[in-house]
Amino acid sequence: MAQANCDWKTDRFCLGACYYPEHWPEELWADDFRRMRELGFSIVRMAEFAWSIFEPEEGRFEFGLFDRAIDLAREQGIQVILGTPTATPPAWLTSKYPEVLNAKQDGTLYRHGQRRHYNYNSPVYRELSARIVTRMAEHYKDHPAVVGWQIDNELNCEVNVFYSDADHAAFRVWLREKYGSLEVLNRAWGAVFWNQTYTDWSQVHLTRPTPSDSPNPHQALDEKRFFSDSAIAFAKLQSDILRDAAPRQWVTTNGMFGHLDSHKMTEETLDFFSYDSYPNFSTIYPDKGERPLLDRKWSLNLSAARDVSPNFCVMEQQSGPGGWVNMMDMPSPKPGQMRLWTYQSIAHGADMLLYFRWRTAAMGTEIYWHGINDYHNQPNRRVAEAGIIGEELARVGAQWLGSTFRAEVAILKDYDNEWDGELDKWHGPFTGRSVSAWFKALQRRHIPVDTKYVRASTTIEELAKYRVLVYPHPAVMPKETAALLKRYVEGGGTLVLGCRSGYKDAAGQCYMQPFPGPLSGMCGIQVEDFTLIGPYQQAPQVKWNAAGAGTLPGDGFADILRVTAESAEILAVYASDYYAGKPALVRNRQGEGTAYYYGSVFTEESAGALIKVLGLQSPASEWGELPEGVELAIREHHSNGNKFAFLLNYAHDIQTLTFRKPLRDLLSGTEVHGSVAMKPFDVLVLELDS
Ligand code: GLA
Repeated sequence: MAQANCDWKTDRFCLGACYYPEHWPEELWADDFRRMRELGFSIVRMAEFAWSIFEPEEGRFEFGLFDRAIDLAREQGIQVILGTPTATPPAWLTSKYPEVLNAKQDGTLYRHGQRRHYNYNSPVYRELSARIVTRMAEHYKDHPAVVGWQIDNELNCEVNVFYSDADHAAFRVWLREKYGSLEVLNRAWGAVFWNQTYTDWSQVHLTRPTPSDSPNPHQALDEKRFFSDSAIAFAKLQSDILRDAAPRQWVTTNGMFGHLDSHKMTEETLDFFSYDSYPNFSTIYPDKGERPLLDRKWSLNLSAARDVSPNFCVMEQQSGPGGWVNMMDMPSPKPGQMRLWTYQSIAHGADMLLYFRWRTAAMGTEIYWHGINDYHNQPNRRVAEAGIIGEELARVGAQWLGSTFRAEVAILKDYDNEWDGELDKWHGPFTGRSVSAWFKALQRRHIPVDTKYVRASTTIEELAKYRVLVYPHPAVMPKETAALLKRYVEGGGTLVLGCRSGYKDAAGQCYMQPFPGPLSGMCGIQVEDFTLIGPYQQAPQVKWNAAGAGTLPGDGFADILRVTAESAEILAVYASDYYAGKPALVRNRQGEGTAYYYGSVFTEESAGALIKVLGLQSPASEWGELPEGVELAIREHHSNGNKFAFLLNYAHDIQTLTFRKPLRDLLSGTEVHGSVAMKPFDVLVLELDS
């Protein structure tokens, strides 16, 4: 069975690139690896889409091409991460075994021609995947250059729903295991409603096309849990093989995608998690609001990655303009932005980083997804920028390896609410808005924040290390989670909740008790009445008695509160509509701590007012003053308390910082003190006193 975890830590910062020898004439390879070494690169990832190179026809295996490429990498001191190639089954496989293909909800099969066209549950796909992974692991297990494996590539990217016959069958098995009997299943799915009661397992399916695209919501929630478990089981099939056959090499996989519990996957199958960071997606999907954070918003995504693995690898870091032939048309990163994004990843916990990709593909869907090198392979500004980063990281990058991000505030999330909220428009859309509002408000005040996923295994110690937790709209609230949050508050923590909290159980059914259900006692309130705010209705106005905030608009929803505990204080009331004068924000002291319930969706302004009420301050206030356009992130070594402050300028103009005491910048090797001008996209890494 699977071996114990394999350590991936090194004594130098490993920087590198994704490399595809199968895309280039062999004459280029040696020069490519030589130039990588000269740039300070020490690692490449390869092979994740190369199944037909390794197995050109069923059962015939060939390793020559990658053997030659890996040996050339080794000659330049470059280590190799090998991808298992299961994201792209070969044409011989999909045409002989069409049952391996994924299907749309209506049953139409995805055909050969792109990638990720397979399903996780087909027995033959699992068998053929196990075989190619076994053969690759046996072949490379002792290769001195091969240090680790990436399972598949971006599980659940491109498509994260699965409706092949194999998936319907596997869903039934999964449900039998979960519920034991149809009676229990029928209750959990509320099947008595609209006559959905099942009398035989053969009648049970994943959701199928329905009028108004409106499936049973409890079934839809279970379906997402099943998709996640299917992906994890597929990853585990591979990691078990790799750990048995290649115990010296570590195992990871990359990307964070929908309908996949990345925490559970990492615990059950990986040595550590890897994330792919493409901050320029923000130029084509900017967050809403007047002042979007754009590339700086990637720090929120990175905070989720480090909740999975406090130190992680960025397996693909954007290094050029991104674009497929038919979509995702992104501008070129400006000079300095590639370096900024590299340190953004590092500031948030990345201890290894590879650029996507060494050279832009000259053929295929991704001819516009630019790598460091252009098609022409001549020197360019991105190669030069990579060289600067390579030099810096070789010089100072080892110092912060193993240190972790420091925050006293966390935004809580969980998979059930994320998945339930995709279908449920009465709470789902609120979470993204409130998380973004809090993140922006904290970012602009230089208050570092973690993302923390609440899971069945979450302990009180994990929560108690935060002074403040913000759980914006946890509609699904199992009683056990409510009890954990109560312990956190009673033990001295501060918890902030928004509207729509606590009214559903783990099946997604509504509690038959006043909202916020099992959170009501802790919050000292009940929701007396509530209303959704329609698109043409005015936002509820909220008059704050606290923080000198005046009257601020709420957003989207109004929970009209009634105070039920003597310990509860009203901090704000509604100032509009039929509920004017009723409580909108209530603080309740419980044990050593405090719970806040805010009856609306958070805006950046209301989050800002609460930050003031909570007395949160930037750790930078001890040593300097930072302008809004600069991000602060602090990494700390737990062993000796050594701290590093990463200052990242996302602004397109010069930003002026003030340092009240002299501090050393590791990147330039100089001291900063007094007023300091930071160039657009520039980075400082300051040593702080321990
Ligand atoms: C993802 C994939 C890569 C590549 C890039 C750019 O992150 O893992 O293979 O497709 O996106 O599109």
